[in-house]
Amino acid sequence: ERAKQIKIELDLSLPPAKQLKIRDLSKYVDQRVKIYGWVHHLRTDGKKLWFIDLRDGTGFAQIVLTGEMCMTYEAATLYREAAIAVYGKWVKDEKGRAQGTFPGYELAADFWELVGPSCADIDMLFTKDSNPDILMNQRHLVLRGSKASSVMRMRSIITHCFREHFFDRGYTELSPPTLVNTQCEGGSTLFNFNYFEDDGYLTQSSQLYLETGIAAVNDCFCILPSYRAEKSQTRRHLAEFHHIEAERPFITFEDLLETIEDLVCDVIDRVGKKMESDMDTFLRASGGKPIPKLERPFLRMTYEDAVKYCREHGIYKDPETKEHFEFGDDIPEKPERQMTDEINRPIMLIKFPASLKSFYMQKCDDDKRLTESVDLLLPGVGEVVGGSMRMWDMDELMEAYKKEGMDPAPYYWFTDQRKYGTCPHGGYGLGLERFICALLGIHHIRDACLYPRYRGRIAP
Ligand code: 4AD
Repeated sequence: ERAKQIKIELDLSLPPAKQLKIRDLSKYVDQRVKIYGWVHHLRTDGKKLWFIDLRDGTGFAQIVLTGEMCMTYEAATLYREAAIAVYGKWVKDEKGRAQGTFPGYELAADFWELVGPSCADIDMLFTKDSNPDILMNQRHLVLRGSKASSVMRMRSIITHCFREHFFDRGYTELSPPTLVNTQCEGGSTLFNFNYFEDDGYLTQSSQLYLETGIAAVNDCFCILPSYRAEKSQTRRHLAEFHHIEAERPFITFEDLLETIEDLVCDVIDRVGKKMESDMDTFLRASGGKPIPKLERPFLRMTYEDAVKYCREHGIYKDPETKEHFEFGDDIPEKPERQMTDEINRPIMLIKFPASLKSFYMQKCDDDKRLTESVDLLLPGVGEVVGGSMRMWDMDELMEAYKKEGMDPAPYYWFTDQRKYGTCPHGGYGLGLERFICALLGIHHIRDACLYPRYRGRIAP
């Protein structure tokens, strides 16, 4: 009741305050500024001295409130996550204890006002140690935390670096549809839906459409969501992921491998440079794990040698019966990751048997059982890129549809590429979220997404 009586007012005799984002404060030392943000943390040192860590999504600033500014009704009902505006001078903190984006500096407030209140229950919703399901239910609030918001900022920088890479190398960005009536990676992971009166699918990969782009614009890429109805729940599988795909005409398999190596190394270099200049809190929030440097050239290992490696290093198809892998077996995620972690450097696993791979892959000239295919495996995460040369002979493609039991009719536009000016070409798809996990040392892929989608989760 007493607090309701206390009113503070903006002192109009003070110099005008420029409205700023927190990241720009360093240029305004000793000047009067106005900043908006959310109360990240509130600490009171007696009744008349409050410290607020204010967050505006571009940084954190320590705010000092004194005297009657701490005694109003708005102050008495101020909770974490309230939105406020603060006026004051951006000054060196004499005690040198201020944290935030600019340690040692703080905003000595002369006035503040409430923009949008918060609620007392804010501290009861979750803690950073709550179980993952609770954290995912509260994802909209968890995102405001310093770690999750840094990952989102890093994701934006990484995506930007991919685009820069492609534009620098002369690619054109295309935007294929994600509502489709064809499959690319096998029927078992297709999401289907009712598309007006017809069957529709959510795309598994934009590859087939990108292949039609090469005769129009030459090297091309897209960054779009792909969807997979993955039955298994693992720490690297999503139902919706962002797929960075590219396609290049008139290249050889060797060119394709070099293209993928160039992509991964160049993007990592670019991210490293941007992080130096675009001051970011990620390293602080994540405990300072640096971006890994990858040794070039990447190790190249044939599928056949991987089977041999597993046999020789006690990596079993079935650990219980100690059954060994044989040529032709799919090496599942777990043993594949075990091998990658043991070797502990990027591996380009190449030349998979045709029986394990999608219908569109070009066979090897010297062994028709094998395909000109590649998976890039990174330590800690496993497969991050899948690519191949594409079957470019019409008869072979017709045969491949038949073998897979696919009706060629809905693929007429894809088949037409082989009828009108077919050419050797190849491309790949990189899972953005898996790449982010590898780069930032994130354990579970859900933490690399704004709002992850996986089996059992479609909200928020
Ligand atoms: O190996 P995949 O299935 O290859 C394709 O879809 C090709 N058509 C791409 C192309 O050549 N244009 O998928 C490529 C990459 C994988 O290496 C992985 O990084 C990611 O996409 N990926 C997934 N990421 C998260 N969750 C899933 N369920 C994923 N499935 C694939």
